[in-house]
Amino acid sequence: MEETVLISDSPKENRKDNKTKADRRWKMVDRAMRKNGYEQHSLIEVLHVVQETFGYLENDALEYVSKALGVPLSQVYGVATFYHFFTLKPQGEHTCVLCTGTACYIKGVPELIDTLKDVADVTTGETTEDNKLSVLSARCVGACGLAPVAVLDGEVVGKLKPGQLRKKVEEWIA
Ligand code: FES
Repeated sequence: MEETVLISDSPKENRKDNKTKADRRWKMVDRAMRKNGYEQHSLIEVLHVVQETFGYLENDALEYVSKALGVPLSQVYGVATFYHFFTLKPQGEHTCVLCTGTACYIKGVPELIDTLKDVADVTTGETTEDNKLSVLSARCVGACGLAPVAVLDGEVVGKLKPGQLRKKVEEWIA
């Protein structure tokens, strides 16, 4: 039986340790800022990359982008809340971000989506009625070799099996 692969414990740690595999999501954000010469006017584009890699505009990432681009955090939040295509941290007590990029999709994300529907009657973009679980999707979390990948409460989990996801979600919504 293949083992589940845990890539990270927290986004903050990832950012501190550039050598860990866990850095990939942050690296993708860094790349977007670098590509734009850390120009303040690239804020919206960079926020798009944050959302595509994290599934939503995670607070740590907003602070990080604010500092890196030299844009006041209040302004970053202003932009993040103004545009309807941005999603701030979801309201659920627990968060499951499914990577729906091509590699993950081919390797079994549809089955993971079915599992969430079956166990908690929830799908991407939704939060359970009791607010225990929010499910989001990301376009690629930068760990394609470990597909299918999900980020469960901030922890990137590779080679995720439906049974493992079911167990975790059952714990969360118990
Ligand atoms: S497509 Fe899922 S990690 Fe890249």
